[in-house]
Order: sequence, then C-alpha cells, then structure tokens
Amino acid sequence: MSSKITWRPLSEEEKEKRNELWGENSSQRDGIISTPYDIYMPKLYQAISERILNFKVREDDIWIITYPKCGTTWTQEIVWHIMNDVNKELGKLPLFLRSPYLEFEGMYDFASSSGKLFPKEGKHAEMMRKVFVESVDMAANAPSPRIIKSHLPFQLLPPNVLDIAKVVYVCRNPKDTCVSFYHHINDTLAMNYHFKGSFDQFTDCFKAGKLGYGSYLDHLKSGWKWRNHPNMKFIWYEDMRKNSSKEVSALAAFLNHPMSKEKVDELVEHLKFSNMKERATKDEMAFYINMDKFFRKGEVGDWKNYFQGEKLKEWDEWIAKNLEGSGIRFNFQ
Ligand code: A3P
Repeated sequence: MSSKITWRPLSEEEKEKRNELWGENSSQRDGIISTPYDIYMPKLYQAISERILNFKVREDDIWIITYPKCGTTWTQEIVWHIMNDVNKELGKLPLFLRSPYLEFEGMYDFASSSGKLFPKEGKHAEMMRKVFVESVDMAANAPSPRIIKSHLPFQLLPPNVLDIAKVVYVCRNPKDTCVSFYHHINDTLAMNYHFKGSFDQFTDCFKAGKLGYGSYLDHLKSGWKWRNHPNMKFIWYEDMRKNSSKEVSALAAFLNHPMSKEKVDELVEHLKFSNMKERATKDEMAFYINMDKFFRKGEVGDWKNYFQGEKLKEWDEWIAKNLEGSGIRFNFQ
C-alpha cells in the first residue's frame, strides 16, 4: 500500500461522454483519476484524499470496507450489534451516527445539491451537515471503539490500517453488485445521481471502472490480497445470505466478542432483510432516503433477470479475463 497518490483531470473527450450520461448536478459528472492505480473518483474527493491517507487509525477501530452495494449496511448493523450486545434501543440511533461513513463529504456535493436528501434547515439539518460535509472530522472525533465505513479500495486508505485496526472486507458477486448499484442510482438516490443512460450504458461504466470508487474487480483484488491477514475478516455477501448464523458467530469471534447461540439467533432475526426493511421504512430518516427502494431484494441471483444471451457471455468473459490467476471464485446462485 502506497501513500503517494496524485490526481489528474478527465480528458475533454471523457468529460463530453460523461455529460451525456450524467445530469448537471450529478456527483458523477466530473471526476479525477488517481496516479498510480487509475481509480476514478468524483472531483470533490481530491480535497480529502490526503487527509484520508493520513487519517489516524486507532487500535480499537473496526473498519468495514466494501465496494458499494456489497452488503455494507447489513454488515455495519451486524458489527455494531455484536459490539453492543444486540442493544436494540441504542440501535435505534441512525446508522450513520453509530458507524460514520468516512469519505462521504468527498462523494456528493452538499453545497450545490438539491432535494430532500440534504436538508439545509429543520430538525436534522445540523446533524446531516456534519454527516455529509464534515464526514472525515466526524469519523476522526467519534468515540472508541469506532466502526468506520468506507467504500475506498485499500490503495486510498491509510496505509497502516491493517497493521493497527481490525478490518471487515465484504464482497459480492459482480453481476448482483452491478444490478444493485444500477437500482441504487436510479431509484434510491436518483435525485443525486441524475443518470440519463440505459442499463447497458450503466453496465459499461461499471465494467470500465467509471463509477465512483473505480473498478469493482480491482477493488476486490485489493481486499483479496489481504484475506489471510490476522487483522482481516474477508466475507462474501452470498455466505451471509446462505448461513447468517455461521458468519455472525465467526465475525463475533474475530472481533473478540464471542456470542452465545441465543444472542446470535436474536441478532440474525433482528437484522433479517424483511425486519431491517420494515424498521427502516418507518424510521424518520426514511424521509431523506428512499428506504423502501434501498432494501430492494436482498437476494443472490437477481442478475439472471438482467444478464442473458450475448450480454451474459460478454460478462463471463470479462470476469474470467480480469480475474485470471487470482484464485477468486464467485457464488452466483
Ligand atoms: P439489493 O439491491 O440486491 O437488494 P449496501 O449496503 O452495500 O449498499 O448494499 C445494499 C444491498 O444489500 C441491497 O441489495 C440490499 O437490499 C442488501 N441488503 C441490505 N440489508 C440486507 C439484509 N439484512 N439481508 C440481505 N440483504 C440486505
């Protein structure tokens, strides 16, 4: 992991292409690319890149690192509830206060954004301002033990994060991840992304690493590389779906917070997709984000409704080519 990153602007040609796909206020419209690694990020990110590389990691930190749509929220809740003995009352606090999203301020332009996601006045305005505009400070000042969420690949994180803290890396098969991401930008946060293209154009962006956080397969390789590190817990979304209790118990042991079978069962039930969805849609925070759309399907294999025939063939070839020799195998059902 290197701490020397510089950023270059997009070419004029690339900017033109992006203008056709992303609306005027979209965080994805203009971007920067890292040297080295060629990671695409929104332009806003440049202002915090260095601060994140130099972010002070604490020994009792838990970092949840994922590419978007791999089951981040579910894992944040699992980890928080393990660390807090399934305290359902405390767990009613909004997740972004219990588990700060480190680089949030570098992903969306709060100042020029419109829509109810970013209230500038009213009951939650101050809290949301901190969450969105001072996310790095918010994470830096959070009380220990912090459960920090980040979608950044390892190359953009503090280089010592694995030496000092515990890291939970969650991943998912790329076809379901892409479908989930497509719905995220078009349904859950449409008012922020303003995507004007088709599903096929979106999947092209995904494959080419032209969405914030860059290429998913590169991200995955950045995590896979450290999968056997003693401070790393590498988890597949598909395994969590298949056997939640087993994964939760293993995670609790990794976090030095072993749980009784009864507690594990209680946690798994509390965080079951339908239960999380029901609570989230009733929560007052649901006013800001369309939680009904966020908790979309929560399944493995929804990709089959989107990738067929030639497209499926093209994707299978793309995956095989990009992961050749890596040892990474996906579970697609
Ligand atoms: P789908 O869009 O396929 O339904 P992230 O939190 O990284 O944004 O990931 C969101 C994905 O995780 C969504 O996938 C969402 O439905 C799913 N998810 C959220 N909570 C879940 C849970 N308790 N069980 C299973 N899947 C869950």
